[in-house]
Amino acid sequence: MKIFLDTAEIEEIRTAARWGVLDGVTTNPSLYAKVGGSYDEILKEICKITSGPVSAEVVSDDVEGMLTEGRHFAKLAPNIVVKVAMSENGLEAISRFAAEGIKTNCTLVFSTNQGFLAAKAGASIISPFVGRLDDINQDGMTVIRELAEAFSIHEIECEVLAASIRNPLHMTQSLLAGAHIATLPFKILQQMVHHPLTDKGIAQFKKDWAAAQATAAK
Ligand code: E4P
Repeated sequence: MKIFLDTAEIEEIRTAARWGVLDGVTTNPSLYAKVGGSYDEILKEICKITSGPVSAEVVSDDVEGMLTEGRHFAKLAPNIVVKVAMSENGLEAISRFAAEGIKTNCTLVFSTNQGFLAAKAGASIISPFVGRLDDINQDGMTVIRELAEAFSIHEIECEVLAASIRNPLHMTQSLLAGAHIATLPFKILQQMVHHPLTDKGIAQFKKDWAAAQATAAK
């Protein structure tokens, strides 16, 4: 399963890249609003850090507007993937982007049928939102599992990206559900690294090492 960072924070992306675990990045208007500045410049900077897919989201509601925004993003770097929200116009835009050779990530997917339609229209990636479904008492992971299984059965090339990841358990569950990609906030990536017994073990090894060194020096 590929790991994408769900952020527009450059330093977080640099850190994950240094750890050797970064396969791509997803951004959205809300994540961009947290950092501000020029969205184009942020995207270009992210694309310098990773050669993996970097999602840039369009905000127009009409097809022509989506196409204009998406074509602009696609020119910023070769690894840009245009993120389009699920809708009737979104499907049309995805289909037209596919015909132009522009990769898309269909976002705001909340059902298996929506994901199936987006893949059929030509999306390279579909993003079911796990956390937001859990928030309304629906099992978000079921959508991930159903789409991963359906795409495998029917040999559909579109990748299932587990989005709206809220905790480390969601990552393990996405891995086991067959998600091709999961995108997560940096804080959750850090939580995945740590375990209290690891931290305790490191402290104990350091202590024992220092004690052994002190004895050897006598
Ligand atoms: C990523 O592509 C999505 O936009 C993001 O994961 C949504 O996460 P949220 O539901 O925590 O806002």
